[in-house]
Formats: sequence, structure tokens, C-alpha cells
Amino acid sequence: MKILFAASEIYPLIKTGGLADVAGSLPVALRKQGHDARMIMPAYNSILEKVAPIHNSTNLGNPFGVGDIILLESCIQSSDTPIYLVQCQTMYEREYGPYLDANGNDFDDNHLRFGILSWVSAMLSQYGALFGWQPDILHLNDWQTGFAAAYLASWKTNHIPVITTVHNLRYNGSFNMEKWSAMRLSSDLLSLHGMEFYGNFSGLKAGLVFADAITTVSPTYAKEILTPEYGDGLDGTLRSMKHKLHGVLNGVDYDQWSPQKDTHISKNYDIHSIEDKLDNKLALLRECGLPEDPTKPVFGVVSRLTEQKGLDLILEAIPEALNKGAVLVVLGSGDKALEQSYIDLSTQYPDQVHVRIGYDEAYSHRIQAGSDVFLIPSRFEPCGLTQLYALKYGTLPLVRKTGGLADTVFEEGEQANGFSFNDATVQSLQACLDRCMHAFSDLNHWRKLQHSAMSYDFSWEKTTKKWEELYSSLLR
Ligand code: ADP
Ligand code: GLC
Repeated sequence: MKILFAASEIYPLIKTGGLADVAGSLPVALRKQGHDARMIMPAYNSILEKVAPIHNSTNLGNPFGVGDIILLESCIQSSDTPIYLVQCQTMYEREYGPYLDANGNDFDDNHLRFGILSWVSAMLSQYGALFGWQPDILHLNDWQTGFAAAYLASWKTNHIPVITTVHNLRYNGSFNMEKWSAMRLSSDLLSLHGMEFYGNFSGLKAGLVFADAITTVSPTYAKEILTPEYGDGLDGTLRSMKHKLHGVLNGVDYDQWSPQKDTHISKNYDIHSIEDKLDNKLALLRECGLPEDPTKPVFGVVSRLTEQKGLDLILEAIPEALNKGAVLVVLGSGDKALEQSYIDLSTQYPDQVHVRIGYDEAYSHRIQAGSDVFLIPSRFEPCGLTQLYALKYGTLPLVRKTGGLADTVFEEGEQANGFSFNDATVQSLQACLDRCMHAFSDLNHWRKLQHSAMSYDFSWEKTTKKWEELYSSLLR
């Protein structure tokens, strides 16, 4: 099958979160199964330095009045995956991240920036013959590419099946109607059953209502988003589309994320040499300038600092564990108040808490390998990848039981591989931390849990079958 996979971030070219990891690895896994999967994303600043030389380019003109749009064809060398890059200088060649300006605010023209990415994805799907390649399936991801489903719907011509994957319902790409005319979309799409969303228009809702199938990144999140508590205003829409909604758990690229192969960590190890994990723990403590005491449990956090991740709960719950000797290592960035609270915590516990505000891919691997426990107390979590990585590193995840965390981390029974709690409260988290500290004091028991954790297999190879089935069902 020929699949066009559209996303606003793709690892290793650009990454702000799990979407990039998935967009950079699912198409690669599909190619390994013999499918012609290709990617499309914007040619942000400095992207061209990271891909193979451009071997074809097509000028699509200036239909949005913001400058010429050029479709570039290249390849991600590390995985040998063809990638289309959408070049439009005024839209994409900017400083800072893919979505936010220097002050951390959304760019004011994100509707157009991702409208254009969506429009080109739709063009390639619809008129691929003109470009030398036409996909059988268009696979959209999140609101930034959801508009593509609207362009295809408004052109009302040949129909190519569209799948939209929801990685996070909280970001719905909703914009004021003043911005509508810039989108060059027909206004019959703007009904309640179309992409209108509480008086605005929404890229994510377009992706939902105009797609042939919707997936989200775990079975539990697929159920949760049908409820008002997790539905972010879209639960009604989703309930009416239950027949085309599927929960398909994300996979892991174990070439990037396994302690045997990891090139960022100080000592490689696997399930047969778990003792060697200790080297990584001591190296991490050294790097953080903390006492190199192997007997104290190290709790690691690598996360966007947002309300979603429940990191405010850690701030309140952790002092009790710290007073019993725990160590906390944090890497993250986002909410300014949370950043400051974590810095304050590290000043309060200089020998036990180390906080780095920022984004650092290599360091995130060292925290995975060097910690004993990985903390993810999310209020909601569509899938969550860091707990999947942690399992493979024998770093036991401690999670709130929600979304993909509930599907992959278990505290009870034969399948036990970590710790989990139900309620998003400080008390529940504290009790869970307590159970975890207790388990840590029994090395034999801990090793058993680590063995179990490291035996779990969340590789893409397992998941691609589900994708193949879903794609085929849409082509029939
Ligand atoms: P989300 O996509 O909601 O942020 P996931 O668990 O799916 O959560 O994916 C997060 C990804 O981003 C992981 O690969 C994680 O290691 C990475 N990550 C998050 N914050 C940072 C950071 N500050 N530095 C480096 N990597 C980070
Ligand atoms: C989103 C979600 C996260 C998920 C990731 C990849 O960012 O917040 O739970 O793992 O997308 O699907």
C-alpha cells in the first residue's frame, strides 16, 4: 500500500513531544513490511541541512497570497524514508519552535501555516499523478494536518480514504472566524456537523468529521474521550462517530530506545546484565552533582511541563519521599510557574533534587537509564511513550492509571511491571510513592519487577498488523 503520513513534527528532524517519535517511526515500520509509506511536513528552518539532497521540487504557486509554496522531495537518511517537505519561506523559516514564538505564544498565523501543510498534503493525495506519486491512503495526525480532510471534502472529486490519528484532544487547533477566509475553504464545511467548534473553526474537528476512520493512540484513551471529563468539548462529536473510532497503541523504536543499543548512555546493559544499570545511575548522579549513593532510589522525570502531566502533584507529594531519602532528577520545560516551582524545590533539597529546564534528547536517555523509577502522574495521557521506554530500561514506571498508562503499566499480579494509582490527588500519589519505596528496599523483589518490565515488547512490528488491517478495510 502507498501511505502518505502527514505530521507537523518528525524525529530526527524536529521534535517537541511524542508525536515526533511516532511520526518518525511508524512509517519506517510500515516500509519494513513492504509498504510504500512516505512522510510530509513543513521545511522549517534548518530542516534541509538534516535530510538528503533535494532530488525534485515543484512550485505550487501562491494560492494563499503569502508567497510561493514549493514541494520538495528528499529522504531521511538514517531510515531511508522518502519525505516531502513543504517550503514556504514566510510561513516556516522562523526562529524558535514549530508552534511558538520567543515568548512561548502560538504564532498568530498558525491557522495558515498548518492550513498550507494540510493543503499540500491534500493536493498530493488528490493530484499525485502530477507529482509522480499518489498515495492510496492519507494518514493525518492531530489538528495541524486535520485541515487536509476539509480540503479534500471541499474539492468533492475523487475520493482517497483519510485516517486521522488523535494524539492529544486537548490541542484542537481552534481559530477565530476572522481567520476563516484566509483558509480558502468552502463555507458549507462550517456547520455544526462540519468543522465549526463553539463559534470558531477547528482543524482537529475537520480531521474527525471528514475522515473515513479515526484512531487514537491507546484503547483506554479511545474510551475516555467519549466522556465529557476527557472529551475536551469533542466527546459529543466523537460519540456520534464511535463506529469509525479505533484505539491503536503506539509502538516503540527499540533501535533508539533500548539499553543494549543506546549510544547516549555510559554503560549498555540488557535483561541479563541488569546490575550494569548501576553504572548509569552513578553517572547520572555525578552529572547532576548529587551524592553518588547507590542505595537511594532515584526518581526520574522527563516531560513537557503542562497541566496534562500532573507534575504539580509531584511537587506536593515528593517531600515526604525526599525526607525518607529519595532522589529526584527532572528534565522539562513549559509552564513558567511550574518551571520556577521545580527550581525552588531543587534549592530546598540541594543534595536530593536536580532540575534542568530545557530540552535535551541525549540527557533524556541518560535519565531513562540512570533512574530507578520513572514518574508520570498524568491527569490524562493519550498514550505516553516515556513509560514504554522506561520499561525497556528496567526503570519502573510510576503512573496514574489513565489512557495509555493504564494499558501498559500494572502494579498487581503476574504482569506487574511498575506502580500505579487512580485518583489525581496528592494523597493517592503519596501512597503510591510509599509502596514504591517499600518495594525498592527489597532487592530481590525489585529485580523481579525489573525483569518483568524489560520483558514487555511494545515494538512497532507488533502494531503494524493492526495498521495494515485498518488501511485495507478502508481500501475495500
Ligand atoms: P507527550 O507527547 O505528551 O509530550 P510522550 O510520552 O508521548 O508525551 O512523549 C514525550 C517525548 O518527548 C519522549 O520522547 C520524551 O523523552 C521527550 N521529551 C519530553 N520532554 C523532553 C525534554 N525536556 N527533553 C528531551 N526530551 C523530552
Ligand atoms: C501526544 C500525547 C502522548 C502520546 C503522543 C504520541 O503528545 O500527549 O500521550 O504518547 O502524543 O502519540
